[in-house]
Amino acid sequence: MRQPLIAGNWKMHGTRDSCRALASAIAGDLGTLQEAEVAIFPPYPSLPEAADAIRGTGIALGAQDLHPEAEGAFTGAVSGSLLRSFDCRYVLAGHSERRRLFGETDDAVKRKISRALASDLKPVLCVGESSEQREAGDGEEIVHKQVRIALAGMDSSVATRLVLAYEPVWAIGSGRPATPEVAAEMHALIRDDLRKFFGMTEGSEIRILYGGSVTPENAGGLLGQEEIDGLLVGGASLDAASFSAIARAAVGAYS
Ligand code: PGA
Repeated sequence: MRQPLIAGNWKMHGTRDSCRALASAIAGDLGTLQEAEVAIFPPYPSLPEAADAIRGTGIALGAQDLHPEAEGAFTGAVSGSLLRSFDCRYVLAGHSERRRLFGETDDAVKRKISRALASDLKPVLCVGESSEQREAGDGEEIVHKQVRIALAGMDSSVATRLVLAYEPVWAIGSGRPATPEVAAEMHALIRDDLRKFFGMTEGSEIRILYGGSVTPENAGGLLGQEEIDGLLVGGASLDAASFSAIARAAVGAYS
């Protein structure tokens, strides 16, 4: 059985003090949770303090992005090996805000996944269609394409370290989450793709998270779907009580 993963993406929010306080509060609330894995993704400069706050707990640290190259003259960018040295275990790749606002292409996302794996990080590949693409009937093809390009040529041995996140762009930050049924449909398609890529066994082991306007109220319904193996939470992860309630919904849904 796949262990559910509840991930909090803090995006560009907080200060040194507020990030430390949030990490400490989450460590206090969820540090001993066994039934679900919890991961937080603070902004880069807060990683060391977040790492200190969660040390000794079961909570994992992740970063929101990395550069595809190992190192070099890339002003403003951060390498996978640096993230790893700050105790990051996970890294997001291809979040729709990176694709949309920073011009990240499917090919760049693929290179980031490879770099993350080479840096001993677990990449969380984010895919999802915009509302225009969905309305035009292209949603499934867009998601297939994002998955196909990012994973082309990858060996099945990486499957255990890979996480997928289906995040429909129209649901992110909109207060308009996908219904559990709509999300489940796309998760099933992604699962098929993963099995085609990596084989039945490995393709079945990869966790597929849902993201987009997740709240404590809708978390249980989403997690009740067979192929939804966790949640990538934005806004609601900035409040320790909300994020903890979401993580506890995972315990309820899987017990
Ligand atoms: P949201 O963001 O929960 O605020 O919609 C989710 C995400 O972008 O990962």
